[in-house]
Amino acid sequence: MGKMVVYPGSFDPITNGHISILRRTLTIFDSVNVAVAENPMKNTLFSLEERLAMIRESIKNDNNVYVDSFDGLLVDYVESKNTNVIIRGMRALSDFEYEFQMSLMNRKLNNKIQTIFMMTDYKWFYTSSTIIKEAARYGGAIRGLVPDIVCQKLKEKFDHQ
Ligand code: PNS
Repeated sequence: MGKMVVYPGSFDPITNGHISILRRTLTIFDSVNVAVAENPMKNTLFSLEERLAMIRESIKNDNNVYVDSFDGLLVDYVESKNTNVIIRGMRALSDFEYEFQMSLMNRKLNNKIQTIFMMTDYKWFYTSSTIIKEAARYGGAIRGLVPDIVCQKLKEKFDHQ
């Protein structure tokens, strides 16, 4: 079956930055399990079902990518998938403190699980789900930063507000 890695996040919504990390991860590991947090600490714009559907549509032509959701502790979920690797993308310095804290806490909770960080491609250095939502809310052009399905769903969401 090969080595599978868990790629967790809120994915509210998935961006091209996420897709880039996912595809680069597939050059190292055999499969990636995208794990969408059911109740992330943040209030999400999209429901869990909407977030899952956008990811499924965006990766429909990629092999060895699985999409799932989880509730509760990430380390418990990772263990339930019979793997021991979490992958996280890392952008500028601003990500570092949060990622460092989270990976150390996860390590404290279960030291069999390893977190690996992958630096983002320079193309996605300045983008995040949050800043893309902000731009989309006020009608900014976000094409090219997110998969087409996400572009469409963001437009629908903000057109109805
Ligand atoms: O995309 P995000 O919002 O940066 O992802 C954060 C996420 C979902 C990976 C993180 O909040 C998480 O793992 N939540 C589940 C609860 C948990 O295990 N927290 C970390 C240790 S307390």
